[in-house]
Amino acid sequence: MALPMSQAATFDEAARQLRAAERVVVFTGAGVSAASGIETFRDPGGLWSRYPPERFATVSGLLRTATFDPRQIVRFARDVLAPIADAEPNPAHQAIAEIERRAHATVVTQNIDGLHRDAGSHGVRQVHGSMLEVTSSDGHVLRRLSRLELRAIAAQLGRAASGRLALWRGLRAVRPLLGLSRTGPYRPNVVLFGEALRQPDWDDAQRGAEQCDLMLVVGTSGMVVPAAELPLRAAMRGATVILVDPDADLPADIHLRGRAADLMPQLVQRAYG
Ligand code: OAD
Repeated sequence: MALPMSQAATFDEAARQLRAAERVVVFTGAGVSAASGIETFRDPGGLWSRYPPERFATVSGLLRTATFDPRQIVRFARDVLAPIADAEPNPAHQAIAEIERRAHATVVTQNIDGLHRDAGSHGVRQVHGSMLEVTSSDGHVLRRLSRLELRAIAAQLGRAASGRLALWRGLRAVRPLLGLSRTGPYRPNVVLFGEALRQPDWDDAQRGAEQCDLMLVVGTSGMVVPAAELPLRAAMRGATVILVDPDADLPADIHLRGRAADLMPQLVQRAYG
């Protein structure tokens, strides 16, 4: 993709800053996984336009929806799980893993899709958790699921959503992820609205933001606190903030407008290539 002249100069400056940085934090949101086929939440037609978060992303909303609209809850679960089950890292995830190899870098993500790890990033701070992990009620990760297992669950949910006894069959389908065992309840390791962010990931993320000299913010609307406060914390400590996003209107020193899967590999190539 050829860049217009003014963006080329901005791009060179971003690459120069990235090369010179001693400590980098890469902070990502749903936009980084868009090219992997996982829809964002707030773009037009995004997940929250079909499934309002007050009904589908809080504990009380989920219980109410399961009671009064069981088919919809099963569809929602299928629509969240199926794209994650089928996803593979895209060039943006790979470019971010390359930054980790070239610099002292920490990846902090709001995404629950596990794609940074699959791209080879180490020690990813998943502040909203991971759909590929099952946790006990006290926050211990009990086990990891493969994408193959998620795919099987999503297929069963698809069948449950269109038949009779949707909720009952849906609950059977999600048993590897959600249920009651001899040691107590277990659930997907994902943060719902109103819940605390995952630890120790969140403490690490805050420390990283306060210690970095460059924060690369990729594909997030910055609408959800407290995660969205990280770029501000970095800026307040004097770090340079570079935003890679086609639309987001967040405070940043440099804004590279475009898709992460196009821009991130170019930025990394120009910084270190
Ligand atoms: P949003 O859906 O709020 O924002 C997606 C961002 O990605 C927007 O700024 C888009 O402009 C941008 N975007 C879209 N396509 C892109 C692409 N190809 N390349 C780069 N950027 C692109 O998603 P998040 O900001 O991640 O939390 O949402 C934050 C949190 O809100 C999520 O973690 C989730 C949600 O509610 C919980 O559920 C707790």
